[in-house]
Amino acid sequence: MKVLVATEKPFAAAAVNGIKEIVEGAGHECALLEKYTEKAELLAAVADANALIIRSDKVDAEVLDAAKELKIVVRAGAGYDNVDLEAATAHGVVVMNTPGQNANAVAELVFGMLVYSIRNRFNGKAGSELLGKKLGLLAFGNVSRNVARIARGFGMDVATYDPFIDADKVRAEGFEVVDSQAELFKTCDVISLHIPATPETRGSIGAAYIGSMKKGGVLVNTARKEVINEAELIATMAERTDLRYVSDLMMDAHAEAVEKLGERYFATPKKMGAQTAEANINAGLAAANQIVGFFKDGCTRFQVNK
Ligand code: 3PG
Repeated sequence: MKVLVATEKPFAAAAVNGIKEIVEGAGHECALLEKYTEKAELLAAVADANALIIRSDKVDAEVLDAAKELKIVVRAGAGYDNVDLEAATAHGVVVMNTPGQNANAVAELVFGMLVYSIRNRFNGKAGSELLGKKLGLLAFGNVSRNVARIARGFGMDVATYDPFIDADKVRAEGFEVVDSQAELFKTCDVISLHIPATPETRGSIGAAYIGSMKKGGVLVNTARKEVINEAELIATMAERTDLRYVSDLMMDAHAEAVEKLGERYFATPKKMGAQTAEANINAGLAAANQIVGFFKDGCTRFQVNK
């Protein structure tokens, strides 16, 4: 079988080497398409691939049409909003993710960006601290759990809202669980978003939530830029000059946000949350092992288009 690793934003070399070892060790072929700039390059590379490892790379109907031999796509990471699941199912292609594998890396970036912002980008002006502040986690999955663990070290109080968790279990772990998203936004000093990009969540964080945040509040987004209603965020924060927004990935309206919000807005130019050697190795090797297991035993654990 031919396994193609197609990553516009490449893995660390150690992860690529590890993937190759696993794939070739199981008797398959491993091909690499890194840093491609044109979709045409991906379309050509997938033509004879039986399996595909990707990151945030877009796998849409056109890619699936071009990939006549494709049986499986593994998104080395958590969010799979970049894959057209319906088209994949229609093409008989199994789609998997590698949940949890890059979660700590993303969680550490939450605090990196947060401290950078509340210390005024280390510009010499007095900033503020996290000790004793309340952190609100919107959704309580793998990344969120790591954020909660690290927050305890900072001496923060942690609350979460997630309609899909067993609230009593999470409370028993010592975390506050609030009854609504609105309550979370109103009662916490820092809000960290950990929701996936779905039809329900896209554009869902707008004026109502952001405008209700506490004085001096910070909104941290290492989830997806698409969950923000950008026009409403900019308008609300232009009024509420005490609020800050830090985002792992520039807004579509980046230039306008910089102009209107100044240093209260910080964003990475490329998505950096999962961009550590450790996370690349964890997620990349998991993806390779999942593909080997799929071809060997038909294992479909972590399939997301069942
Ligand atoms: C994820 O969903 O796993 C993260 O957003 C990481 O995305 P990346 O692999 O493109 O860095």
